Amino acid sequence: MSERIPIAGPWITEKEVAYAAEAAADGWYERAGFYVQRFEEAFAKYLGIEHAVAVPHCTSAIHLSLAGLGIGPDDEVIVPDITWIASAAPTHYVGATPVFADIDETTWCISAESVRKCITNRTKAIIPVGLYGLTPDMDALRDVAQEHGLRIIEDAAQTIGSKYKGQLAGTFGDAGVFSFHGTKTMTTGEGGMFVTDDDELYDRVQVLRDHGRTKANFRNFYNTEVAFKYRMSSLQAAFGFGQLERIDELVARKREIFGWYRDRLAEVPGLRLNAEPPDYFSTFWMTTVIVEADYGLTNQELMAAFAEHAIDTRPFFHPLSALPAFSDTPQAADATTRNTVAYALSPRGLNLPSAMRITETQVDRVCSVLRKILGRN
Ligand SMILES: Cc1ncc(COP(=O)(O)O)c(C=O)c1O
Repeated sequence: MSERIPIAGPWITEKEVAYAAEAAADGWYERAGFYVQRFEEAFAKYLGIEHAVAVPHCTSAIHLSLAGLGIGPDDEVIVPDITWIASAAPTHYVGATPVFADIDETTWCISAESVRKCITNRTKAIIPVGLYGLTPDMDALRDVAQEHGLRIIEDAAQTIGSKYKGQLAGTFGDAGVFSFHGTKTMTTGEGGMFVTDDDELYDRVQVLRDHGRTKANFRNFYNTEVAFKYRMSSLQAAFGFGQLERIDELVARKREIFGWYRDRLAEVPGLRLNAEPPDYFSTFWMTTVIVEADYGLTNQELMAAFAEHAIDTRPFFHPLSALPAFSDTPQAADATTRNTVAYALSPRGLNLPSAMRITETQVDRVCSVLRKILGRN
């Protein structure tokens, strides 16, 4: 049997290991906050944004964004139907209701046109999600948000380094959020970042993420409200600082991997790869294929066929509205009839191995197996 090809995984060098070791040896006492602060400042500088707050994961960054913007019971938040559940779950944490918008046929990201159909007098925010490395059409979404007075929390968990009209992902909304999970382009093991240009929101998030302590009463064990404990450790921050120093190299590598796939698969009839329309710069977090219906193959069948060749793949996300977690809600019922693109693409989409350390030879093997499965070799 050939060596197993994993779906995802990071690219770590001695640089990150050395930074983490330094923090492990010295990130205590008066240096306890140093590594986190350095990582936050470097991240804000990279994005060209005022504030960055390092947190335990992107899920907590979304939770903090919603809570910080005062979104709560009786409010609705529009999310794309196709994304990881973490984009939507925090709406429940604050007592609000997620409403599932359809995705765009080309970008696979939330469709501004569908968002318009989801707006009610309870709608307070939109959470646009960059999917598999591509940002949504942020101009169109910002127009809708402006027309209806909605806040934007940009979920850039999968799009660090991606650009829309030359501007970096995560910088378009009232808040932006990132994930440094081990599968992501840059990682801290688990980890995330909240970013904003809004001083007031930043101050509020600082209090909310630290059990309701303000900077002024930090040393006083004095809590002004019941809040959350969402802080990143020095070790993770030091590691992340090293990854961030290499971000251009990490992004270039993702694009190189996608290029290897494109060279081998672009001409296969009935296969569609991630799009990169003009004005967009994708970081191709996950190389993804949509297999046209004519092949009569679902993504579950494709995954099983790949597994026989020791190749790990993942299905395109299930529509959130189809998951047991949400399916008994009226919002999910509306989504199942409205979101025709999400429901058409989901069962035919497949993420191909996109680990940072995958080799061109391994990509060659994945593509040969795919062509064989499709009868196109
Ligand atoms: C689009 C999206 N949003 C949010 C998250 C949550 O990130 P984390 O696992 O860091 O909480 C993920 C993680 O995969 C994601 O893909």
